[in-house]
Formats: sequence, structure tokens, C-alpha cells
Amino acid sequence: MNLQHSADLLQRNQQVIPGGLASINRKADPCIAFARAQGSRMWDVDGNEYIDYHAGFAPYILGHNDPHQNKAVIDAMTQLRSNYGSGPTADEGELARLFLSCIPSAERVQFLNTGSEATAQAIRVARAWTGNDHVLRMQGSYNGNHNMVASNVMSTKDQLGGRQIIGDEYPLAPLTAGIPGAERALMHSVEFNDLEAVEAVARRCKLAALITEPVLQNVGIIKPRPGYLEGLRRLADQYGFLLILDEVKTGFRTAPGPYHAIQGIDPDLSTYGKAIANGFPIAALAGKAKFMDLVTSTDPHKRVLIAGTYNCHPIPVAGAIACLRKLTDPALKVYRKLEGLSNRLEQGIERLMSDHRITATFVRQGSAHCTYFMPVAPTNWWETLSGHDFAFDVRYRHALIERGIYQFPVAAKQGSISFAHSETDIDETLEATGSALNQLLTSPLKLGV
Ligand SMILES: Cc1ncc(COP(=O)(O)O)c(C=O)c1O
Repeated sequence: MNLQHSADLLQRNQQVIPGGLASINRKADPCIAFARAQGSRMWDVDGNEYIDYHAGFAPYILGHNDPHQNKAVIDAMTQLRSNYGSGPTADEGELARLFLSCIPSAERVQFLNTGSEATAQAIRVARAWTGNDHVLRMQGSYNGNHNMVASNVMSTKDQLGGRQIIGDEYPLAPLTAGIPGAERALMHSVEFNDLEAVEAVARRCKLAALITEPVLQNVGIIKPRPGYLEGLRRLADQYGFLLILDEVKTGFRTAPGPYHAIQGIDPDLSTYGKAIANGFPIAALAGKAKFMDLVTSTDPHKRVLIAGTYNCHPIPVAGAIACLRKLTDPALKVYRKLEGLSNRLEQGIERLMSDHRITATFVRQGSAHCTYFMPVAPTNWWETLSGHDFAFDVRYRHALIERGIYQFPVAAKQGSISFAHSETDIDETLEATGSALNQLLTSPLKLGV
């Protein structure tokens, strides 16, 4: 396939932007430059067309350029909404009421611009409430780009000390240089689904918070074992730290609300982004009033600063209101359609893998999914590292891209289906998958792209 214009564009950008793009996580091989997108489809600068399952790292639950959402955003501009920077707005109040009606565990919400801001503020609130500094995360959970959470996601075995650690914490595997030693000493990561390890760290350190995705959706799809999230709740109560569920990816993916509501878990705080606004930059921190109201505490030692020039900018607010209205509209049956399409893909992929005698496990949480090339679904990152065929996964993704199916070309990354996808899209995807598997089995060493 011809990707010449993509390569040229990257090279030109590299002269002025380190790496050639504004978020280094977007850089993958092949590094395709996209030019436009509509519904389930994207087109690159060379004119190649793709059915998109990357969904811009998962926000596009309605699909690209949803017409109702675009109209709401354009209306906000023609009605001369501005980012006044003074006083409240009616739109932020409306968004807050609509949003909270979807989050039974929360009484208050603050809106921010990115998921990273939401998790940073959540940790700040937890520290202010508890007076403690240490923060515990899960190996394989991505919780944003700021210091306190920038570690232990897709770590290598070497970074983790060469062995799986159950019952205690892993060594720190930072995602970035520049984290001061004083902060590194406060960061802890344990294996997902390991309550014993959480307790070991809680006994040793004064924890302000445990923050985790309730389903690990940045390393494919790794689900909590029955009783695990309940166990986290119990340990939080026992040791006095706050339970923060980071629903930036899981929120509004399976149902019009958080994943924790489906499971009947009651976090102290939860964070959102991505699907709440179908691609517009807005995020949320939601929680119990007693924690959230620290923003207006009269005690200066407890008061938490949450501020931002662009918090609730009218454009993403209009986008979020339109998105949530659509997701919660009973007449549209958004989640029923997503479930039907996702099930169709799941059945089809499982049939194809079995027909081709490929050892694979398709794991799905609502409309988010991942194909692991291993016999069973992983329950933590170490099992993925040990069992998943990463090299085959990359070649599989390359072969799909060559056939017009865009899964992000990094092994074990999640795929997402949107409301704009159709049964025809799924069937075309399955046909391309069959053809990709045939190619991979007949020329096992040839890279697809
Ligand atoms: C679970 C989770 N939390 C937080 C973030 C950070 O969000 P953002 O990239 O909007 O800062 C992400 C981003 O992928 C995420 O998946």
C-alpha cells in the first residue's frame, strides 16, 4: 500500500516538532497521517480508506464527526458562546446535572480538559482529605501523563525485576525521565487482581489513594476477578485511603454511565474523559460531596485548588452535552446496537481463529475488545507478557491495515466499536481478517506492511 505522503508529512513535521507529532503515544509503525474521518471510516493523506477501530484511543463512541454533535458545537459558536473566564455558565450547570444523573456514586462533579488533569486532581483531593502522600496503582493501568502516575504500564520483564511479584509491589518502571526522587518514593504499583499486594503496601505506607482502571483497557482488556473490586473497597475502608476508579476509558463504554455502577461498586472518586464527549477535549472528576467540596473548604489547610482557563470551554461543553444526550436517549438504543455489533465481531473472530487453528482469545468489555494470541484471557500484565505472542499481534495488525482495517499497530492495544459502525463494516472486517490470517499463515515471516 502507498503511504508515501504519510512518510513525507512525518518527516516535514519532525523538523519543527520533536518526533513529528504532538503526542508521542500516537507514533507507531506504520505512522499513518490521517486527513479526515466520518462515522466508522477514516482516510489518510495518500487517499487510503480504513474502517476505524482505534477511535482516537477510544473517545469516538458515536463515530467521527457525529452530525448532531457537530451541529451542537456549531450552534454554540453561532450563538456567540465564549470562554468568558468569569462567573458560572448555564451550560456547565446543564452538563453537570446531565452527567451526574448517569453516575449514581457521585454527588458532585468538576470538569477539566484531559483525563490526566482529572486523575491529578483526584489524587490531590485524596491527599488533602487523608493527609497522606503515598499513591498505589496497578501494573498495566494507564492513569495519565503526570508524575505521580507515569509508571508501570507496558513494562518489560527486565524493568519488573525479571519475575512476577504477587503479594507485594513491583519495582518502579517510570514512563518518563524527570520525576524527582521525592515523588518516586511515593509511587507504588502492584499486580492487578492481587488484593494481598494491596494490603502489603497499605500496611507499610500511608496511602492517600489507590487509583486504578476498573478494567485495564490500556493493555488490551484485563477484567477484575469476581470480588476484586469489592476487595479494594474493603481495604480502602480498612486502611483509610480513598478508592479512585479511573473510568477515563471504561466510563460510558459498556453502558451510559460508569463500569463500577454495573458492578455495584462505590468508589470515593471517579474520573472520566474520552467517551463523555465523543472526541472533544473534556474530562471529569466526580465523587462524594464531602471530598469534592474540599474545593470550597473554609479550612485553608484542607482547601483544594481546581482551576483552569479552559475548564468547561463552551465548545467541548456543547460537544459533551450533545454526546451524553445521544448516549442516554432510550429511543436510540445506542448500547443495544453496540452490543449487537460487538457480539457479531466477537463470534466472527473466534470462528476465524478456530478455522485457521490459531491460538487466540478474544476479550471484550462492551464495545471495547482485544485479541490476545494466547490460550486464555490474561488476568494481569505479567500473564500477558508471558503468554501473548506480541510479534504475531503486530504482524496481524499490519496485515489488517493493508486491508483497510485500522487497529492501532501496537500489540495488545484495545479496539473500539462505535455507534456509527454497521453490520456491513463488521462483515468487511471479518472478510479482511480471514484474508490477513491466510497471508500470515502462508508467509509467516513476511511483515504485512
Ligand atoms: C484510563 C485512563 N486514564 C487517564 C488517561 C489520560 O487521559 P488524557 O490522555 O486525556 O490526559 C487515559 C488516556 O488514555 C486513560 O486511558
